[in-house]
Amino acid sequence: MTASKVISIVREPMFDAVHGTDTATRVQVHDTDASGPNVAYAVDYEPTSYHEARALFQRLRLTDVHGAFVDFGCGKGRMLLLATEYSFGRIVGIEFSQQLCDTARANVQKYCSSTEERVEILNEDAASYELSDDEVVFFFFNPFAEAVMSMVLESIYRSLRRRNRQVWVIYNNPRCRALFESGGVFLKVDEHRLPRTRAFVYTNVGTDPRSVRSLLPERRADVPGAGEATERVGADGCTPVRSSSSGR
Ligand SMILES: C[S@@+](CC[C@H](N)C(=O)[O-])C[C@H]1O[C@@H](n2cnc3c(N)ncnc32)[C@H](O)[C@@H]1O
Repeated sequence: MTASKVISIVREPMFDAVHGTDTATRVQVHDTDASGPNVAYAVDYEPTSYHEARALFQRLRLTDVHGAFVDFGCGKGRMLLLATEYSFGRIVGIEFSQQLCDTARANVQKYCSSTEERVEILNEDAASYELSDDEVVFFFFNPFAEAVMSMVLESIYRSLRRRNRQVWVIYNNPRCRALFESGGVFLKVDEHRLPRTRAFVYTNVGTDPRSVRSLLPERRADVPGAGEATERVGADGCTPVRSSSSGR
């Protein structure tokens, strides 16, 4: 086991203990109130590791991004909490389980010392979420399979057609990366090796790659290691983990 993985395992339970939040416990989608056809494509709730999220956010130059941050499949909202430390104008979590939304709202109240009015947690299926045109950073921690991801991508494309702007996709455990890489809109600008998984960063480039504004530092500091989170979906890259025990 690498040193960075050991550090990550030791630090992980500390997050909730320090902040009085409830983000760490995994929840199977089938044990929540989430309903509808897209439950079949959902990946169970598991938070992005605190350590990995910090590493990712620190690596990207997010400090002067004032548009909105969206976590598709925000679960208990850990990424929303961390996003409040940055300059985003709005911080949006989309989650189709009302129970997980309620937990995420309680977590925001506990984590943020004063009322954090930038955070909105929407109890919605990501597949039917219509983007707002101020949204610029899209976060995914392998939340769902291709059937849903392709609908989210269509919504991103529609929004870009309404208001052309530079946007970034941070995709942790990018099982449906082929969708981003085959659409002719997004270019992968970073691949970040985290202790348990990998995260890819994409941006839309238009026709001239020189117009890309990088969020990346000039020097790379990849953390070696790979891990179990990358194995949570099937070998086709998009088949979700089933919530029944036989699916694991
Ligand atoms: C792996 S967890 C990621 C949690 C969070 N983004 C994080 O990084 O800490 C995936 C989440 O996506 C949610 N989800 C799956 N399919 C969804 C859908 N179609 N619409 C909204 N949420 C969905 C699940 O309920 C679960 O909470």
